[in-house]
Amino acid sequence: MTSTNEIRRSFLDYFSKAGHAATPSAPLVPYNDPTLMFVNAGMVPFKNIFTGLETPPSPRAASSQKCVRAGGKHNDLDNVGYTARHHTFFEMLGNFSFGDYFKEQAIEHAWTLLTREWGLPKDRLTVTVYHTDDEAYALWKRIAGLPDERIIRITTADNFWSMGDTGPCGPCSEIFYDHGDHIFGGPPGSPDEDGDRFVEIWNLVFMQYDSQADGSRRDLPKPSIDTGMGIERVAAVLQGVHDNYDTDTFKALISASEAITGVAANGDAASSHRVIADHLRSTSFLMADGVLPSNEGRGYVLRRIMRRAMRHAHLLGAADPLMHRLVPALVTEMGQAYPELVRGQALISEVLEREETQFRRTLDKGLKLLDEATGDLSNGGELDGEIAFRLYDTYGFPYDLTEDALRARGIDVDRAGFDTAMARQKAAARAAWKGSGDAASGEVWFDIAEREGATEFTGYASTSGEGRITAIMKNGVEVASADAGDEVTVLTNQTPFYGESGGQNGDAGTISSVNGLRARVIDTSKPLGRLHAHTIIIESGTVAVGDTVEMKVDAERRDRIRANHSATHLVHAALRNRLGGHVTQKGSMVADDRLRFDFSHPVALTPEDIAAVEVEVNAEIRANETVTTRLMTPDDAVAAGALALFGEKYGEEVRVLSMGRPGGEGRNYSVELCGGTHVRATGDIGLFRIVSESAVSSGVRRIEALTGESARQWLIGREEALKTAASLIRSTPDDVPVRLAALLDERKRLEKELGEAKKALALGGGGPTSAVAPADENIAGVMFSGQILDGLDPKELRPLLDAAKQRLGSGVAVAVAVNDGKASIAAAVTDDLTSRFSAVDIVRTGVEALGGKGGGGRPDMAQGGGPDGAKAQNAMSAVKALIAG
Ligand code: ALA
Repeated sequence: MTSTNEIRRSFLDYFSKAGHAATPSAPLVPYNDPTLMFVNAGMVPFKNIFTGLETPPSPRAASSQKCVRAGGKHNDLDNVGYTARHHTFFEMLGNFSFGDYFKEQAIEHAWTLLTREWGLPKDRLTVTVYHTDDEAYALWKRIAGLPDERIIRITTADNFWSMGDTGPCGPCSEIFYDHGDHIFGGPPGSPDEDGDRFVEIWNLVFMQYDSQADGSRRDLPKPSIDTGMGIERVAAVLQGVHDNYDTDTFKALISASEAITGVAANGDAASSHRVIADHLRSTSFLMADGVLPSNEGRGYVLRRIMRRAMRHAHLLGAADPLMHRLVPALVTEMGQAYPELVRGQALISEVLEREETQFRRTLDKGLKLLDEATGDLSNGGELDGEIAFRLYDTYGFPYDLTEDALRARGIDVDRAGFDTAMARQKAAARAAWKGSGDAASGEVWFDIAEREGATEFTGYASTSGEGRITAIMKNGVEVASADAGDEVTVLTNQTPFYGESGGQNGDAGTISSVNGLRARVIDTSKPLGRLHAHTIIIESGTVAVGDTVEMKVDAERRDRIRANHSATHLVHAALRNRLGGHVTQKGSMVADDRLRFDFSHPVALTPEDIAAVEVEVNAEIRANETVTTRLMTPDDAVAAGALALFGEKYGEEVRVLSMGRPGGEGRNYSVELCGGTHVRATGDIGLFRIVSESAVSSGVRRIEALTGESARQWLIGREEALKTAASLIRSTPDDVPVRLAALLDERKRLEKELGEAKKALALGGGGPTSAVAPADENIAGVMFSGQILDGLDPKELRPLLDAAKQRLGSGVAVAVAVNDGKASIAAAVTDDLTSRFSAVDIVRTGVEALGGKGGGGRPDMAQGGGPDGAKAQNAMSAVKALIAG
């Protein structure tokens, strides 16, 4: 059997040998096409090459492109699980000629690969051509020697392929495989063509035109070739099965899901296993390319697919989250061909588990509601749109999940009713927002925006300029003027002050006027995304609506902000280069003294990662390339390769920042859509230093970094600390590590020696060799030994007293150890005297003198302690007095 991995390799090998550049799959999120939600064909990444906008690195290419068809125009989500060939994720094998070869070679290659390399029997193959394409017809006849009845002319759009309403297009020729007469269906163009017997396996598109938005078609600069072969379909053919879900990849995924659920893939369960296997692929690949679940845009499509799979896991009776446990099987099957899957594995598993755990909390209740609401309905019935909305709103059921859940029973959902309920909820939310106290000033912003229009920002080109005061707000209410001492918010018709947005802090500076106004701008915000609101403190004079004022941004502060903002773009690019394309920006904060960058990545960066990122960013800084900004429509910007943030709303016109050295394909090191302010050339950043790396939430990491003078100061701070340390240990900074290690060794040795010396001293001598005994005295006929020892380990008191008892023969011994200002006391009484003195009483007396209470033991040996080590002498006197009677 030929495995899917072998088929992919063999396809790329064949075309490499035929002079094609084997090109890795582009990410699923199409950075060059804003009209698409996800890449849905192999040619999408080459679109601008076909239209002549970009020059191809090679005139021929071949790829195995990841595609998702869910959400957007091509949406196969609803059919997945119930048919043999629908997928939300699939791989498209394709060969491309960019103005190089055309129809003849395209047909030759396809025919050779299928019939010679892969050995498909010729009599199983049928082809179609566009009805007017006599050339293709003749070529098939000549090259493949197919009889007339197996070269079918098709008049419909089926054989005229276009990427979308606009873009490259042309007539196409499709190759069909006949799975045999045991399966219902007829050849293409016949009444039974929708049957499953003849399956299209390869589409050869003869790209000739570029459709324009007005419906007209322009000739492409050069006729080109785009082909697409679904690997799942051709794998089915080569593996001798009819159903894509019976191919090796799917069998492996389905058996993993059977093993975990303990449910065989038969009957109804088969559909659920298929849904799970398919959705596991699409959701994992989407996350590997940086899409994370959310409530809008691409993230919501991802969530919908996940939840659909999760309902099926539930249908199979899975008691716990299931999807994340299947990720290893997917990585085994596809990780070698798509290393992003391996890199993203931890993040993918983590997000799947979190989403499934969360969704399971409401899934049961939602399904119960659904059962109740549809209990009376039968085949052909329709679920109330209000209920579908409640399921969506309260239980997190995406609309298509509800549809899917009712599909088996033949029940529809009232879409219009759902939409109405949704619209009503949105209106209510707006009304509630307007009514809330918090929104009071929001209302004022709306009034001002309506009256005055958006503030014009002049601060990209300059940091000073004049503006006319259009509004003054004091404590959330509009006023006509303000005086010295007031803190108010002023708006002007135009301003050089950047309003906080896109993570970049607002500008600070001054506002003044010829009438004597002097005010400090402490912050600038950007309410409604189109007004620049300056918070000012008036130091002298007054300001009134209608005044013309001179506005000056604190330019040095702004320069620091610029450097930090440009550095975030460089670090974003460096992180993607180092860690992979799954890294996408999840947030940022650009202040004048530091920057913060949050991004998707499952694990902590290693010190090597951090070092590599720093090296790369600093190299770009030193290259000192001019930063270029271009204003474009969002479409053109994304077409030019700009990184756009998912879910961000971009206006009519966007700024595209290109930064760093030009790389392959003439694209700069970093290209991003960004409304912020940036350095003129990367050298202005000066120096870049990462000072911390941490986790923000699961799957999201945070880097904090400094640039320019802040980075230099930080490094100097470190150096100063090192110098101080060096001088303290009488060394030089370079020698600190060696010297410090030696000192630590020495200290260890000394501590050991000191401990031994103290012990020896206490045991009755000046050292291990000394035999000088401590002074013993005779108190009223009782021999007494009293010792006070600084720094003696209290554990040593007992052996010490044992030694004293032996020396005395008959008598009382007391010892006090003083440590850290506290004292431990122990007393010993030789057996012959225990009837006269109790060691416990002696200790208690001592303890009391030491400011403590208690103490305990036996009549011959007792121990205790007190907080006041300075009273050790008093304790000794008290004990002696006790013995003296
Ligand atoms: N672009 C063509 C298709 O998607 C090959 O079918």
